[in-house]
Amino acid sequence: MKCLIDRLRQNHELEPEGIRALLTMRDSQDLEYLISQAREVSQRQFGRGIYLRGLIELSNVCRNDCLYCGIRRSNGHVPRYTLTRDQVMACCEQGYQLGFRTFVMQGGEWGEERSQWIADIISDIRQTWPDCAITLSLGEHPRETYELWHRAGADRYLLRHETHNERLYSLLHPASMTIVHRLQCLDWLKETGYQVGAGIMVGAPFQTLSSIVEDIQYLISFKPHMIGIGPFIPQHDTPFGRFPAGSVDMTARLYAILRLALPQALIPSTTAMATLSPDGRLRGILAGANVVMPNLSPKDSRAFYALYDNKAALGAESAQGIKALTDELATIGYHIDWSRGDHPSRTV
Ligand code: 5AD
Repeated sequence: MKCLIDRLRQNHELEPEGIRALLTMRDSQDLEYLISQAREVSQRQFGRGIYLRGLIELSNVCRNDCLYCGIRRSNGHVPRYTLTRDQVMACCEQGYQLGFRTFVMQGGEWGEERSQWIADIISDIRQTWPDCAITLSLGEHPRETYELWHRAGADRYLLRHETHNERLYSLLHPASMTIVHRLQCLDWLKETGYQVGAGIMVGAPFQTLSSIVEDIQYLISFKPHMIGIGPFIPQHDTPFGRFPAGSVDMTARLYAILRLALPQALIPSTTAMATLSPDGRLRGILAGANVVMPNLSPKDSRAFYALYDNKAALGAESAQGIKALTDELATIGYHIDWSRGDHPSRTV
């Protein structure tokens, strides 16, 4: 096993059987070796600094109907909201005062008739805080829309591919969605000039070991700048409401494997990790993650952005929230890195 791990660290790739072996190994010393190698690579690249991204949940209105997601169109139990332009700007202002230099606008997928409204908000943020990075996480759109938003000032785009396996993709999504189109969007985003994030949910219903191997191979070949991976967590109003949650351990293992494969990638220890386990966020960081995404959304809309049950909302909207995070990171010898935190291949 050590040999496989060394080879992955050295060559940044591994044959499918090797990846499968890393996903199934059970010896605790082997596992500790994988995790500690990933941690070492992460520290060599980024030190013990953790980048912050301020998450602004723009809207829970969504035209899509992904079977796992709490804000899917057919969920009639969730009151729908959309922040106003002024609310978004207020979130950014508050975040900027706290020291945030990346804002992530995430929301359900809308039709193109509202793309210009989003572009106008991006322009406002870009003009008001020229030193900040703007990340979008707004789903699938035509290439022209991605270009419009990029011209308006967006720098990065998160679009998890969810699974590279065609059959599994069709079990998780409505028939109107295809993995082919999702991958097309990811290619467009890269070609447009965004720093791009892809990724999956760990333990999604019907997921298999082979599909995870396929996902890792896809990520190694696509080389995203960012990798968003979190455990699946059921949401009670969705068709998958009774499926079990994914595992924090397996998610951390994926962070470690991907850190060795893509040493420069920006990998958040995701909210879903913190939701499933009190030390989930720290375990992600100790396995090679180097980003945390605290929530800057207005408090009264947060409950409605319920992608899954009991979603943790790290209270970073206040100075106390940042203090709590600082203290949490300090327990493992880490600290907040207040810089923009672009991918090392990009200097702005
Ligand atoms: N559990 C965990 N993650 C989820 N997401 C959506 N629904 C769930 C869920 N039930 C993730 C998807 C999406 C991201 C914004 O949130 O991977 O890409």
